[in-house]
Order: sequence, then structure tokens, then C-alpha cells
Amino acid sequence: MPIAVTAAIAAAFFVSTVNCLIDNANLIWYEQNNQEPQYYYISSRDVPQGLAQTHKIIVNQRITRLQQFNYSNFENLEELKIDFCKVREIDAGAFDSLRSIVTLTLSGNNIAEIEKGIFNNLQVENLNLSTNYITSIHPQAFDNITNLKTVILDYNQLKCWSSDWFYNTPSLRNLSFRHNLLEELPDNALINFRSEIKNETEISVDFGYNKIHLIHPRAFKCVENFSLLNLEYNKLLMLKVETFRNVTKIKNLILRGNPLTCFPKELLLVILEKVEHPAI
Ligand SMILES: *[C@@H]1O[C@H](CO)[C@@H](O)[C@H](O)[C@H]1NC(C)=O
Ligand SMILES: *[C@@H]1O[C@H](CO)[C@@H](O)[C@H](O)[C@H]1NC(C)=O
Ligand SMILES: *[C@@H]1O[C@H](CO)[C@@H](O)[C@H](O)[C@H]1NC(C)=O
Ligand SMILES: *[C@@H]1O[C@H](CO)[C@@H](O)[C@H](O)[C@H]1NC(C)=O
Ligand SMILES: *[C@@H]1O[C@H](CO)[C@@H](O)[C@H](O)[C@H]1NC(C)=O
Ligand SMILES: *[C@@H]1O[C@H](CO)[C@@H](O)[C@H](O)[C@H]1NC(C)=O
Ligand SMILES: *[C@@H]1O[C@H](CO)[C@@H](O)[C@H](O)[C@H]1NC(C)=O
Repeated sequence: MPIAVTAAIAAAFFVSTVNCLIDNANLIWYEQNNQEPQYYYISSRDVPQGLAQTHKIIVNQRITRLQQFNYSNFENLEELKIDFCKVREIDAGAFDSLRSIVTLTLSGNNIAEIEKGIFNNLQVENLNLSTNYITSIHPQAFDNITNLKTVILDYNQLKCWSSDWFYNTPSLRNLSFRHNLLEELPDNALINFRSEIKNETEISVDFGYNKIHLIHPRAFKCVENFSLLNLEYNKLLMLKVETFRNVTKIKNLILRGNPLTCFPKELLLVILEKVEHPAI
């Protein structure tokens, strides 16, 4: 491995060896998919042969701030996991050189805000930001991630949904916001998921375990087909038939755990006509 690569890795990941999360490898990597993990310890100076060819890297030490780093030396890198590393801050452009990444996970960190410029234009397909302290996401933070398929934001502290999120993400299919603090789904909440962008594909949206008490009558105006619409364990007292007027099909609709007490059964039946597998 070239010395420049070694130096760059050291600069990016191993700046604070005193703060190691656990007394273990600083980096776990995989020479090939599904192979045995390999361990890299900063103390062992020598950078192992093959690290530059790795498909997957698991960072295993504390990094409170993720700065720009040149990942282009890892030509085959498909999966980068920076989970439980106490990340608090991510600089704009931190991942810009991650050209071919498929999966990026930043779970279990201390991230509170997602700014613009961190993820825009990445080629990433799966983004997992679960179990952080995220209270705010810039309206354009996820714009133009054209390969993005799945976004997981479970176990965060988001209160407000922004209809601006996910502009120009034509491949996005799976959205999970379980265990947040969302209160309302506003007018045209899913405008960036509108059917003409989605090319006949169904979308799966999971809002389970939030505090949603209000779904705007035109919240789902643009979506024709859902494979999943999960609203379980929210605060819904009622639903409006109008909300589902433009929806033609929902494979799985999950409404259990809501206080839907004053909701007329006849109306429910109108909605359920469109549902393959209801869970009320
Ligand atoms: C990143 O590393 C690659 C390969 O070593 C090099 O060609 C490229 O110029 C570097 N990019 C930056 C922005 O330093
Ligand atoms: C997201 O990351 C967390 C923590 O690593 C993991 O438990 C969860 O299964 C991941 N979610 C998905 C859909 O991959
Ligand atoms: C997304 O792409 C559009 C069109 O190219 C551009 O105008 C906009 O600035 C981009 N947004 C971000 C946040 O990069
Ligand atoms: C949608 O379909 C059109 C025409 O079939 C195609 O050109 C386009 O690439 C498709 N877009 C996506 C996101 O699949
Ligand atoms: C929605 O599903 C119906 C029935 O399966 C199908 O005919 C229609 O083309 C789908 N529309 C979109 C936009 O996916
Ligand atoms: C993503 O959504 C598709 C259907 O839209 C579903 O079949 C699949 O299981 C979902 N994947 C995940 C990881 O949630
Ligand atoms: C249904 O779609 C039409 C055409 O886009 C729109 O004008 C109308 O407001 C939508 N209705 C609802 C209840 O979302």
C-alpha cells in the first residue's frame, strides 16, 4: 500500500488513539465480500496488504468529528460503517470522494443535525442514520442522491416533517422514520415521491411509533401505490377518506395502536377497499 494511503488513513481515522472506544482493532475490514474480518490496529504501524482493496470497512474507534477524507484509494469500497463511534459533527464534503459506495451507516452516534452538503450527490444506495439525536435535517440535505433506495432514520428526535426532503431522489423506495417525535404530516408531504417520478414502483413508508395526530387531507396527494404505509402507535383520532382519494393501492396498511375511537366504520371500509393487508 502506498505511503500516501497509509498517511491519509491515519490522518482521518486514527487521530485520537487515546479516545478509543474499546481496547480492540481501530478498523475492521474485509478483503472480499463474505470473508473473515481482518483487524487493523494503529499500534501495529504496518498497513496490511489488501486494505486498499477492501469491500467493507467498519470503523471501531471514537471520532467526534468526521472531516473530509480522500476515500478514492479504496477502489472497491461498497460498505462503510461508522456506527457507535461517538460522531457528533460531520463536515460538508466529508464523503464527497466516496464514489461507488452502496451502503453508508452512521448509527448509534451523537449526531443532532444533518446539514446540506454532506450527502448531496453521493452515489450511495442505503443510508442508515438510526439511533442518533437528530432533531433537524436541512430541507436540501438529501437532494440529488440519485441512487438512493433506502433511508433509515429510526430512533431519532425529529418533530417536523419537511415536504422538501428528498428532492431528485428518483430511486428512493424505502423510508423509515420509526420512533421519532413527528406530530403532523403536512400538505403534500410526499411530493418528492410522486408517481410519475417513481415509474410504477411502490414505495414503503414507515412512520410507526411517532406522535402523529394530524395527517393533512392532501398529504398523500401524489402517491398512487404504497407497498407499506405504517402508522402504528401514533396519536391518530381520525382519518379522512379524502387523504386516500388519490391512492389506488396499499399493500400493507398498519394503523394499530392509534386511538381511532371516533372514526366511523363506513369510512374505514372505503379506505380498506384499497388495502390488501390491513392491520388496524
Ligand atoms: C485522492 O486520491 C487519489 C488517488 O490517490 C488521487 O488521484 C486524487 O487526486 C486525490 N484527490 C484529492 C482531492 O486529493
Ligand atoms: C441500521 O443500523 C442499525 C445499527 O447498525 C441496525 O441495527 C439496523 O438493522 C440497520 N437498519 C437497516 C434497515 O439496515
Ligand atoms: C440539486 O441539483 C439541482 C439541479 O442540478 C441544483 O440546482 C441544486 O443546487 C442541487 N441541490 C443541492 C443541495 O446540491
Ligand atoms: C423511468 O422510466 C423511464 C422510461 O421508461 C426511464 O427512462 C427512466 O430511467 C426511469 N426512471 C427510473 C428512476 O427508474
Ligand atoms: C399502481 O398500481 C396499479 C395496480 O396495480 C397499477 O395499474 C398502476 O400502474 C400503478 N401506478 C403506479 C404509478 O405505480
Ligand atoms: C423496501 O421496500 C420494498 C417494497 O417497496 C420491500 O419489499 C422491502 O422489504 C423493503 N426493504 C427494506 C429494507 O425495508
Ligand atoms: C388528487 O390529485 C389531483 C390531481 O393531481 C389534485 O388536484 C387533487 O388535489 C388530489 N386530491 C387529493 C385529495 O389529494
